[in-house]
Amino acid sequence: MRNVWKRTDMCGNLRMSDTGKEVVLNGWISKKRNLGGLIFCDLRDKSGIAQIVFTDKVKKEIFEAADELKSEYVIGAKGKVVERESKNKELPTGDIEVIVEEFKIYSASETPPIYIKDDDNVDENLRLKYRYLDLRKSKMQKNMETRHKVAICARNFFDQEGFIEVETPTLIKPTPEGARDYLIPSRVNHGRFYALPQSPQMFKQILMVSGLDRYYQIARCYRDEDLRADRQPEFTQIDMELSFVEPDDIIEIQERFLQKLFKEVLGADVQIPFARLTYDEAMERYGSDKPDTRFGFELKELGDIVAGCGFKVFTGAIESGGMVKAININGGADKFSRKDIDKLQEKIKSYGAKGLAWLKVSDDGVSSPIAKFFDDGKINEILGRMEASAGDLILIVADSAKVVYDSLGFLRRDIASTLSLLDDAQFNFLWVTDFPLFEYSEEDGRYYAMHHPFTAPRDEDIEKLETAPGEVKAKAYDIVLNGVELGGGSIRIHDRELQQKMFKSLGLSEEEVNEKFGFMLEAFKYGTPPHGGLAYGLDRLVMLMLGESSIREVIAFPKNQNAQCLMSEAPGEIEQEQLDELAISKIADQE
Ligand code: AMO
Ligand code: AMP
Repeated sequence: MRNVWKRTDMCGNLRMSDTGKEVVLNGWISKKRNLGGLIFCDLRDKSGIAQIVFTDKVKKEIFEAADELKSEYVIGAKGKVVERESKNKELPTGDIEVIVEEFKIYSASETPPIYIKDDDNVDENLRLKYRYLDLRKSKMQKNMETRHKVAICARNFFDQEGFIEVETPTLIKPTPEGARDYLIPSRVNHGRFYALPQSPQMFKQILMVSGLDRYYQIARCYRDEDLRADRQPEFTQIDMELSFVEPDDIIEIQERFLQKLFKEVLGADVQIPFARLTYDEAMERYGSDKPDTRFGFELKELGDIVAGCGFKVFTGAIESGGMVKAININGGADKFSRKDIDKLQEKIKSYGAKGLAWLKVSDDGVSSPIAKFFDDGKINEILGRMEASAGDLILIVADSAKVVYDSLGFLRRDIASTLSLLDDAQFNFLWVTDFPLFEYSEEDGRYYAMHHPFTAPRDEDIEKLETAPGEVKAKAYDIVLNGVELGGGSIRIHDRELQQKMFKSLGLSEEEVNEKFGFMLEAFKYGTPPHGGLAYGLDRLVMLMLGESSIREVIAFPKNQNAQCLMSEAPGEIEQEQLDELAISKIADQE
């Protein structure tokens, strides 16, 4: 005798062709209606829902027993599939129902704190606390399944291309650059710490030294950074490294991978090769190194036109080394009132913008608070540059390059979203190449590696490493999808001398270098192949494929904005005994 009835079918798969069949279903009660002599329930399993019916015409005891069923009870039901009298066209199983002949309650349920309903607008904190219930929703089940399919497709693809998956350690030496590490105290080495890896970077490069030639891994990464919709403290990368390659070799493989992935998982046709922009072009045209190219509103330079004008804000910005740039919101003149424009101006204050100048174009000319500073000739020059015609709205920001790019880059996206120009089903892939090798920190008065310190400079820029580090471009590339940085990578430095120069430019002493990267440099002494790689954020990839707006929707058990798991209540307290074992004292204890 089995305790659990062996099911014959999944609820969501029953169709008209099954009528007359005796079936056994196992699932959760999702809805119950008692209509006197008939009790209708929706029975749910991961495939969907089937209507099951209890009637006093079959067996009185069963009908009476069914009365105690409530939402989320787990039951087994045996019965016959019949055609429904009133069909439900909304439901794939809406043509049939199952007349229950026998059923068994496997487990009861308390009244669930959230409804198991896709479009339920319940507070996210509640969803995260009761994540197991939230994951019962069909949308979340589909999200988990899509994520699984993406992982399978990646494994198959890279396997066929000659990559092998290698697991790299997750208890590693703390890394100095990049985001903050999560640290783990060592019990057997008091006073020493492991870090959780921010990525498998150093290990994957060492695997190239080992001659593995092509490595990939679906790798868990940890970064203790401030959280946003597309950032989690632990996340997953599809990570890879290849030997004997140039950037184009890596890019070509990724394009074929993404094309296959989108076809297999979504049935979507993605055209390759993808568009490419250099970092400088991306900034100049879109004010962002991860531009969304699903819509226009490109940035245009107005500095040369407005240089001698009487508007101090513009001339002042140019004189102090800044710029004046504008975007044309085609057809936006009557969609944005003065009040709306004031709101936009308010929003870009957080990027440092001190104002937002605008021009509305109509058949009668332009209206603008700054029109008085320009004669008709200049106005026409501006309109010409902006390719503006009647009905357009031109938005101008004058400031330092950073403020102008950040503000106009933000306005492009914000306005496109307001005007509903963002189509989730459109996939605009873009490579952004030739990133700067270094980023200057005003605060610390030194350069940092923009990607990581093993990223190779472009050959033609090597001589500038020591003289003009700010101008050096890297053999680094990002893959951008619809304005989200999906992944990034680079060709690495495999030459020891060049690596030393790089460390020098970063202001690292030999001692610091040895302390931080010694083991990798040691490995590089023994025959290092030229190599490079890339990593995708798997969570972001799945988020975009599903048209979700947060990676939390595609992670089974994500953390909230305070890096807490509301379900398990991690991070948790620990016992004094455990702290003693680790030779760690709380600051509070020391006081
Ligand atoms: P990078 O730091 O650019 O490169 O990371 C690669 C990709 O990982 C994703 N990602 C994240 N996803 C969710 N939450 C986060 N906190 C988070 N941080 C990053 C992004 C990003 O594009 N080792 C290099 C890759 C290489 O050079 O091969 C690396 O980690 O989608
Ligand atoms: P004001 O003369 O300061 O009242 O500014 C006139 C217009 O110029 C207003 O619409 C301001 O929002 C705009 N403005 C002020 N500062 C800037 C700036 N840095 N860039 C663009 N527009 C600005």
